[in-house]
Amino acid sequence: MICESNNKSNPKFESLKINGKCSLQGEVKISGAKNSALVLLAASLLTQEKVCLTNVPNLSDIKKLKNILESIGVKFSKNINDKNQLIINSKNIHTSDLPVNLVNELRASFFCIGPLLAVLGRASLALPGGCNIGERPIKEHIKGLEALGATINTKDGLIKAKIKNYNQKLIGAKISLGCPSVGATETLIMAATLAEGETIISNAAREPEIQDLCEMLNKMGAKISGAGNSTITINGVKNLKGCSHRVIPDRIEAGTFLIAAAATFSSITISPAIPSHLNALIDKLKESGSEITIKNNSIAIKTARINAVNIETAPFPGFPTDLQAPFTALMLKAKGQSSIKETMFENRMNHIEVLNQMGASIKLENNIATVTGVKNLLGKNLKGSDLRSTAAIIIAALTSDNISFVQGLEHLDRGYENFECKLKKLGANISRDTTKNFLKIYLSDEKNIDIIKKLDAA
Ligand code: UD1
Repeated sequence: MICESNNKSNPKFESLKINGKCSLQGEVKISGAKNSALVLLAASLLTQEKVCLTNVPNLSDIKKLKNILESIGVKFSKNINDKNQLIINSKNIHTSDLPVNLVNELRASFFCIGPLLAVLGRASLALPGGCNIGERPIKEHIKGLEALGATINTKDGLIKAKIKNYNQKLIGAKISLGCPSVGATETLIMAATLAEGETIISNAAREPEIQDLCEMLNKMGAKISGAGNSTITINGVKNLKGCSHRVIPDRIEAGTFLIAAAATFSSITISPAIPSHLNALIDKLKESGSEITIKNNSIAIKTARINAVNIETAPFPGFPTDLQAPFTALMLKAKGQSSIKETMFENRMNHIEVLNQMGASIKLENNIATVTGVKNLLGKNLKGSDLRSTAAIIIAALTSDNISFVQGLEHLDRGYENFECKLKKLGANISRDTTKNFLKIYLSDEKNIDIIKKLDAA
């Protein structure tokens, strides 16, 4: 089975039809990491030479960033034999102003500020606001860029940054982050690669995607040490060259599949994965009763029981906030009561209400969900409101007693490449169609004939 969606319609108006009582079996291929690929695309602005990225996932977030980069003059070429390869040429960037309408659609476009400042001495883009999961401030990015010698003005939703010194170069500095922000660490690393002198970032984030970024930048000629630790040192260089780089496997996608297998009492193998990126999850899955076998870059899981375990999200190497929602879906079927504490984002518990509609027993107070395992979950019309909550709802639907129709696929498609196709390959009974078609099946009863007529007319 070729795992590739050819669906070109709008995912906002699509649903997944999922038959419950599912059991998964077999192997699933993990795609390249969204959060690495996004920052690596932005980092390719730092050189006039070509950068060849492989293992780039086909995701809507990646397409949006490509459109933004194209609008300022970046050229992309594809390899017809490898749809996950991108060759990026930033030689002819003609502006440092990112188009507001495109930037507003993608928070990650903020990554461009560091490279644009370093290369062109200025950058202008829309301020990333809060999003579905919380406020998401950027003060650490701004404070750090100012420490490197940038002047930053924010007005009317726009951020304008420029280098204030005469030779248009950022100057290395000692920066201590107020919190280990992934985005701020990445922005400052990219900006500092071409700065004059040494930059030391302390209290830096340690996520694997930061290590991936530093590895690629070092291949390009940057001098960065300490990635993966909380102190990172960057010695600025005059210019960077092109390189080829393979994006690391997506640890969040890998974790989502492991959780889906555990929730459905299944046995699957995921690969390629970097097991050390998933230690916090693997420990919790084992504690909950799953058997995990690691062989090189593959992880096999076999689950015969689910015991309740507690989790608390934390920066890497702690339990990832991006797996909190999927793990909550696993705990719905656990024996006993578990406590799920979200510490990173103030509004990342939107799935709880939806899961309770399915018959889950979850009490939510101050971002702590107390989940009491239940025997049965009811499939329904369900809607995810952000990327990971949609994945969590799909996992719950796979474990339910009947059919669910899940919407919110515009969120899912941001971060999971061919998600339903990979699940189908593992044996799930899942299909995507327009919400209208599914509603017609759902309502296919004499008494709903008028509603169906209206749907047909719409
Ligand atoms: C990145 C990931 C996201 C993941 C998150 C945490 C990308 C594209 N996204 O987001 O999937 O969920 O890391 O692992 O890589 N904070 C401040 N001030 C700041 C910046 C951040 O207080 O200036 C706080 C945030 O409010 C949040 C915490 O720091 O509570 C972590 O945020 P951050 O690491 O910046 O997340 P992102 O880089 O946006």
